[in-house]
Amino acid sequence: MTDDRQAAKETGQGGGANTRRVYVKTYGCQMNVYDSDRMSDALAPEGYALTEAPEEADLIILNTCHIREKAAEKVYSELGRLRVMKKQRESEGRALMVGVAGCVAQAEGEEIARRAPVVDMVFGPQSYHRLPELVRRASTGAKVVETEFDVEEKFAHLATPSRKAVRARGVTAFLTVQEGCDKFCTFCVVPYTRGAEVSRPVSQIVAEAERLAEAGVREVTLLGQNVNAWHGAGEDGREWGLGELLFRLARADGIERLRYTTSHPRDMDDALIAAHRDLDMLMPYLHLPVQTGSDRILKAMNRRHTRDDYFRLIDRIRAARADIAMSGDFIVGFPGETDADFADTMDLVERVGYASAFSFKYSPRPGTPGATMDAQVEEAVKSERLAALQDLLQRQQRAFNASLTGRTFDVLFEKPGRHEGQLAGRSPWLQPVQVDAPENLIGKLATVEIVDVGTNSLFGRLINGQDRKGSNVNVAIPA
Ligand code: SAH
Ligand code: SF4
Ligand code: F3S
Repeated sequence: MTDDRQAAKETGQGGGANTRRVYVKTYGCQMNVYDSDRMSDALAPEGYALTEAPEEADLIILNTCHIREKAAEKVYSELGRLRVMKKQRESEGRALMVGVAGCVAQAEGEEIARRAPVVDMVFGPQSYHRLPELVRRASTGAKVVETEFDVEEKFAHLATPSRKAVRARGVTAFLTVQEGCDKFCTFCVVPYTRGAEVSRPVSQIVAEAERLAEAGVREVTLLGQNVNAWHGAGEDGREWGLGELLFRLARADGIERLRYTTSHPRDMDDALIAAHRDLDMLMPYLHLPVQTGSDRILKAMNRRHTRDDYFRLIDRIRAARADIAMSGDFIVGFPGETDADFADTMDLVERVGYASAFSFKYSPRPGTPGATMDAQVEEAVKSERLAALQDLLQRQQRAFNASLTGRTFDVLFEKPGRHEGQLAGRSPWLQPVQVDAPENLIGKLATVEIVDVGTNSLFGRLINGQDRKGSNVNVAIPA
């Protein structure tokens, strides 16, 4: 028995000596991070405690990502390691159950169990709320494969977790408001792995935000594959979009900062832009992927807007909130992309100016239209373009960070910092900030002046040594 198991037994926590342990390894996007918490919540009443150590676990779940080939292949190499671990366990007379969840599970289903016999359970994102039942079935020795999809299941999976389930989550938390995608960009697997767009009802979202706040969360990031496609019946009887939802959540007790991700340029409506203008607690940071700066490639990708639409949109957003930091995603080497198309991407990046961004080489995904398009781009060309784009984006990120030297703003402190006596928090623009500050500021906002800027972090000093309540002006939902 390990020390903490002993401690758990003595204090009567976690079900004593009968406690089983689950280890969840998360790949991919924030939605998977949120879902991994949901899975451990669902298993807690079954006596499973979460562990950070795979060697301690009785159940290992890989929460997988299918977005690019590399991401999907990682799962099979991990399963190879787990096969060795399971054999070793069996020779010691200890069982190990292995589950594959997430988007690879949804996309490949039974194929995973065939290819990797170490796997006991394969289950997609719509079945996480039924995990206890799946585990019980698998412990009888049956191979469990659950990748059926229907909209009702999706709502059940998104039901509000109980108060007990929302344990202390730290200072920041994700909250899924929308799942799935109907946009069918020609490169992307998400509409196939996450299914059709579904929005959670306002009452569930508000209840979950309040529970998170009660558990000590001060910053909530609303999640969705297309978070700004969220819509629902509002409390005032009108149809709400994400903008109205943000105004409502700004009134939830205890929440001091709001963020949302990932949004699609086509779904940025006036109310959402107004939220950026009127809600101080909505952080001035917007992840708004454009993928490419070429109109030809935007069309081939089925993004359904032009580069000029994107420029105009950014002008409107910056007119509403001048200090907003832009972030994005880019794909280089989509089929048919010429040097001139790529030059358009570089030009768009120059014109917009990103505070941070992700960029990828196009990876053909089975079942998507892009995978069978003519004129696939050579790997060497993709690598060259990616290097040039990343160099530009990195220069922009460094310039943005450097521009914050000497500036004063609020930092939300999340945890102890790198050195004794330091705390780590985040700026409104998401950079980590290291500050000499007393531990009782964890979970609080305090005013900080930036004195130095590193590659990824900022370094600051407390201005008055006191916590500061977030000020949120004009939180009435606009008509
Ligand atoms: N819903 C978000 C994107 C989710 S996927 C949106 O519409 O922007 C996250 C990012 O992965 C995408 O923005 C895209 O840049 C990248 N991506 C998706 N499919 C890809 C593929 N086949 N090859 C390379 N990158 C891909
Ligand atoms: Fe994928 Fe496009 Fe949907 Fe984003 S909007 S999840 S890139 S299909
Ligand atoms: Fe990956 Fe699925 Fe997210 S494919 S990016 S884990 S929605």
